[in-house]
Amino acid sequence: MRKLIIDTDTGSDDAVALMMALKSTNLKVEAITTVCGNVPIELATKNALMTIEVANGQKPPLYVGAAKPLMRDLVTAVNVHGADGMGDCQLIHPTLLPESKHAVDAILELIENNSGEIEIVTIGPVTNIALALLKAPETMKKVKHIYTMGTSGFGPGNTTPVAEFNVYVDAEAYSIMLNSGIPTTIIGFDVCLGEAAWNKEDMDVLLASGKEEAVFAVQCNRSLLAYNLERSNEYIVDLPDAVAMGVVLWDEIVVEDKLCYCYVCTIEAAAYGQVIINDGSKLAISDGFAGHMPNATVCKTIDNPLFKKRLLELLIS
Ligand code: RIB
Ligand code: CA
Repeated sequence: MRKLIIDTDTGSDDAVALMMALKSTNLKVEAITTVCGNVPIELATKNALMTIEVANGQKPPLYVGAAKPLMRDLVTAVNVHGADGMGDCQLIHPTLLPESKHAVDAILELIENNSGEIEIVTIGPVTNIALALLKAPETMKKVKHIYTMGTSGFGPGNTTPVAEFNVYVDAEAYSIMLNSGIPTTIIGFDVCLGEAAWNKEDMDVLLASGKEEAVFAVQCNRSLLAYNLERSNEYIVDLPDAVAMGVVLWDEIVVEDKLCYCYVCTIEAAAYGQVIINDGSKLAISDGFAGHMPNATVCKTIDNPLFKKRLLELLIS
């Protein structure tokens, strides 16, 4: 059976991704670890605990991680997900408590005890993963695979013109992770847009189901909906972390992906958090990758109708 560690900065799209994994019966969520990002670590932790309770699925231990990026002050996304990260509608009143062990230590212990089996899913900034790599690089070589929601993929940034939020919060950490040598699959922001987003019909189906987790999934994304309506007058909820979890759970939704060399910009202020993705097609340079070894498989196209069908079925089943 597959063994997952999910590292999350639990905003509202993270909550949907967490419920997808927790409601899956063909894998074990060994642990959920929290990191600062969408919201400060305390809220990310409360939101994740509440999501575990509501999911009506697996009840894994939760460990609290980094309260600050490696080198920079925290930048949150409360303007998108709400002050509490979950739609500001009084949904968050967890009764579960986190474990006392630090997330980084829990990650390393699980990897040592399950050598070659642990798949890490990052759906927030990767500060915890970078800290684990810095603390015990030999242990981290025993990670089976990393799936990461991050980078703008082959499109523009969502936080700056060139940077996606999870990388922008801690680009140094993302660079450390991408240079770790661990087999990595990137789900960029570009494949999470368009038909991958929930529309009004999707959300009406979820609300009409009356299932606690389905209703929670719509309600906690209320701020994200309001943000999209205000920004582009679109009645949609884009769920990057849910798309990333969809790739983890249902690899058949990946229509096209490419082995690439990905470089994280950490020096130039204007480019901070940009991930330059070289798919080897620029033949002006003889070997395509400019002498670099590819370090990630990057998703290029997702079967959106299949993704949404599977997601709705999982939440209302
Ligand atoms: O850019 C999208 C990512 O940033 C998602 O993980 C979202 O939850 C935020 O963390
Ligand atoms: Ca997230």
